[in-house]
Amino acid sequence: MAVETTKISARTHPTVAQAIYQCVAETTVTTMMAQNFHWNVTGMAFGPLHALFQEIYEDHFQAQDDLAERIRSIGHKVDGRLAAMIDISKVMEDSNECNMTDKQMIAALVDAQKTLAATLSGAGDIAAENGDKLTEDLCIERGRAHEKFAWLLQSHIS
Ligand SMILES: [Fe+2]
Repeated sequence: MAVETTKISARTHPTVAQAIYQCVAETTVTTMMAQNFHWNVTGMAFGPLHALFQEIYEDHFQAQDDLAERIRSIGHKVDGRLAAMIDISKVMEDSNECNMTDKQMIAALVDAQKTLAATLSGAGDIAAENGDKLTEDLCIERGRAHEKFAWLLQSHIS
């Protein structure tokens, strides 16, 4: 006799979609922060930092897409306007970003990664509370990626 293995996600729950959108917004702001640093970093560590910042923004660009398409997969629209995302993001843009020292850039990006890890973890909890373990899985995966980037960055300055 077959075992019942089917469990459908809470596909229409708007709270889950809002939680993922918060992740999209903060990932998007951090993508641009990393690319801004990629362009403007200076100093003796230019080469490896230029490369690391690129690795981060490329990872985040893909993650924005994965998270946004998860929202679409559970039946909700995604507001892709930058203004809407900046408005709700807890990762804030700094008007001095392009003039920061290399250490200031790293510290700012560490903070952003920690914020993102916390947001992804919280979004995973919301998904779990609503029975959507497939969204929870994506949030856990992305949260872990942000904690790793926080460690990679922090290791340069501690
Ligand atoms: Fe480049």
